[in-house]
Amino acid sequence: MTTPPAGRLTIRRLTQGRPLREQLADDVRAGFGRSPKVLPPKYLYDERGSELFETITELPEYYPTRTEATILSAHVDRLVEDIRPEELVELGSGSSRKTRMLLEAMHRSGSGNRYVPLEISETALEGAALELLDDYPWLEVHGHLGDFATDLPSVSRSGRRIIAFLGSTIGNLLPAARAALLERVADSMQPGDVFLLGADLVKSPATLVPAYDDAAGVTADFNRNMLTVLNRELDGDLPVDAFEHRAVWNAGEARIEMHLVAREEVTGRLDAIELDVRFAPGEPLVTEYSCKFEVAGLTGELGVAGLETAEVWTDDRRWFSVFVARRTDSSAPADQYGGG
Ligand code: SAH
Ligand code: AVI
Repeated sequence: MTTPPAGRLTIRRLTQGRPLREQLADDVRAGFGRSPKVLPPKYLYDERGSELFETITELPEYYPTRTEATILSAHVDRLVEDIRPEELVELGSGSSRKTRMLLEAMHRSGSGNRYVPLEISETALEGAALELLDDYPWLEVHGHLGDFATDLPSVSRSGRRIIAFLGSTIGNLLPAARAALLERVADSMQPGDVFLLGADLVKSPATLVPAYDDAAGVTADFNRNMLTVLNRELDGDLPVDAFEHRAVWNAGEARIEMHLVAREEVTGRLDAIELDVRFAPGEPLVTEYSCKFEVAGLTGELGVAGLETAEVWTDDRRWFSVFVARRTDSSAPADQYGGG
């Protein structure tokens, strides 16, 4: 891989959030005091976790990535022609694989050449940026290492934008966090901008559960890797193999939950925060919610945040959806009401 010419790559470390290890310490203190114990899914994505996620996207059971890619391939050229974005901002960009379709469409239409990923995983962000720059000599990448829940306002704009949030990562947020994020997205948009949101739809648990509990055990490794992160970052000794991966369909809340269930009584210590930890036999740690959506429900959530759904694209089976939304007030002059 060649070194990208100066000017084509910048990576900014955003300072809104505190160092990840400090946040993890707080999240463990808070989350391990609750019943059930719970941790935010952002800690799944260290270098190994990001690699495991990429492997998951290729598993036969994990339909979201390939379904979303099929949907995007049918629509992105027209969307880009319509919008003529100067930049593409992407939240939780990971390997940026599907993003390539959008970047190539932008290049074909001659509208813009600026890619602005906001990602929490340093290795994923750097790896994706270098591969993109290698493959696309016309591209500029302005990466932001940060948390999409807090850092979007710090991403400066340089023209009309598409903001993409793909892969149904929105489903990893519970309703209050989703509402806050959607409001931030709306705040960061101007007339002419578009929000492109991938969202996994409610379907039979016979399809959903295997997608999160695959036969090869990759998702189990992905889930257990959270404990490896905990041990490394907080100087801990939790026995990773004492926990079993479980994917649970919570029909009432329309979400898959990833649990790590203690096979027997488990004790350990996280030395860096002087915390003794105990799991009773069968006790779960919830590591991720993956909410599934109905089109009407998500349209409503977007609306509350001030985002009007212009189009919804789905696949033949209606398994996955991609929303195109604009700021509700974006057809009106920006200062129609005297600002504010
Ligand atoms: N968009 C890609 C990757 C989805 S995996 C796709 O559709 O395939 C979720 C990605 O979001 C991971 O790369 C993870 O590191 C990143 N991520 C998770 N929580 C995040 C947060 N709070 N802020 C920024 N990035 C986050
Ligand atoms: C990133 N996110 C949308 C994935 C999902 O499907 O909720 C993460 C994942 N968890 C288990 N498998 C994949």
